[in-house]
Amino acid sequence: MSTTTTVQETVTLNQPKGRMVLDGKPTNYGDFRDALNRDGYAVIKGAIPLERAKKYADSFYGYLEGFDLGYKRDDPSTVKRAMLPVINEKGMILSYGVTHEKWVWDIRAEPGVVEAFEKVYDDSDLIVSFDVVNVQFPGRGDFPENKPWPHQDQDPESPGFRCLQGLVNLNPGGPDDGGLIVCKGGHKFSEQFHREMANEPRIPAWTKEWFGFTENGMKWLKDHGLEWEKVCVEPGDLIVWDSRTPHYNVPPSGKNDRLAVYTCYMPVAEASQADLIKKKEAFEKRLGTTHWPNAQHVAPTNIAMRDGAPCPKAREVPVEDPVLGERAFRLTGIPYIKQEA
Ligand SMILES: [Fe+2]
Repeated sequence: MSTTTTVQETVTLNQPKGRMVLDGKPTNYGDFRDALNRDGYAVIKGAIPLERAKKYADSFYGYLEGFDLGYKRDDPSTVKRAMLPVINEKGMILSYGVTHEKWVWDIRAEPGVVEAFEKVYDDSDLIVSFDVVNVQFPGRGDFPENKPWPHQDQDPESPGFRCLQGLVNLNPGGPDDGGLIVCKGGHKFSEQFHREMANEPRIPAWTKEWFGFTENGMKWLKDHGLEWEKVCVEPGDLIVWDSRTPHYNVPPSGKNDRLAVYTCYMPVAEASQADLIKKKEAFEKRLGTTHWPNAQHVAPTNIAMRDGAPCPKAREVPVEDPVLGERAFRLTGIPYIKQEA
C-alpha cells in the first residue's frame, strides 16, 4: 500500500522545463525551487560565502560611519537619526546613490545570487534592479516606529507569477533579529483573494504594483489557513519570494542589527527597448529603480531630505563608484540596447 503511494507520488511529480510558473503544485527540482513553488518564498543558504558576506557587512558599517555624522558601529548610543544618513522607519536608505555603491554592485554580481534567479527564469540573460539597502537597529534610538505594512508588490489586475524579489542578508537573522515576514503559501491564493475581496476599500499606494492588506484582508488570509512566518537566515543567505506573496519586515529586538541588500532580477527579454534606455539613463545618473528591474519607476533624485531640507551630507553619486565586470555590466541591460540602423 505504502509502496504504491510512493510510486504514484513520484510519478505525478514533474520537473518543469523553462521559466517557473509558481503555481504551488509539487515539483521535484531537488533544490530551493521546490520550496519556492510550494511556499512562495525560499532561502538559498550561503548564496554568498560567509567570509565575503562578513566583508560586505563591514563595508555596510563603514558606509554608515563614513557619513561622519557620529555613528559608530560599536556604540549603541550613536543610533540616532542625526548621527546617521536618512533612513526611513522601515530601515531603507533611499538616497545618496547608495544603490550604485561599489559594495552594493559587488553583492548584485555575486555568482550564487545571480544563479538562483537564472534557475527560476531558466534564462541567463537577466537585468537587475537598482534597489535600496536596509538597516535596522535593535535599539531604535529616535527612529519612528516600524509598524507592520503587509503587502504584495504586484498589481492585482496583472495576476500570475511576474516577478521574483530577493534580498541578501549580511548579519545573523534569528527569530529576534528582525527581517522579512512572509505569508507562507500566499502566492497560491492571490487570484482568489483579489476576486473575493474586490470590493474591499484599497489602502492608498503610490504605484499600482503595490497592494496593502487591510485588517479584513488579513482575516481572509487567516481564515484560509495561511500563516505568517519570520524567515530566519544567516550572513550570506539569499531570500527570494514571489511578488504576490504577502510580506513586510519587522525590526530587530535582540542584539544584532539587521543588514540587507535587495536584489531582484528578471529576463531582459521581458523589458522593452524603451525600458532599457530608461534604465541606462538611471544607471548613468546613479539613480534607483525600486525592485522592478525593468525600471518602471526611477527615483527622481539622489538628494536625501532631512526634516524638510536637503541633508547636509546629501550627494548625487556614490562614495565609491562601482567597478563592473562583464557579468555585472550585462545586468545593467546596457549591452542589450539595439543600436539605431
Ligand atoms: Fe515589498
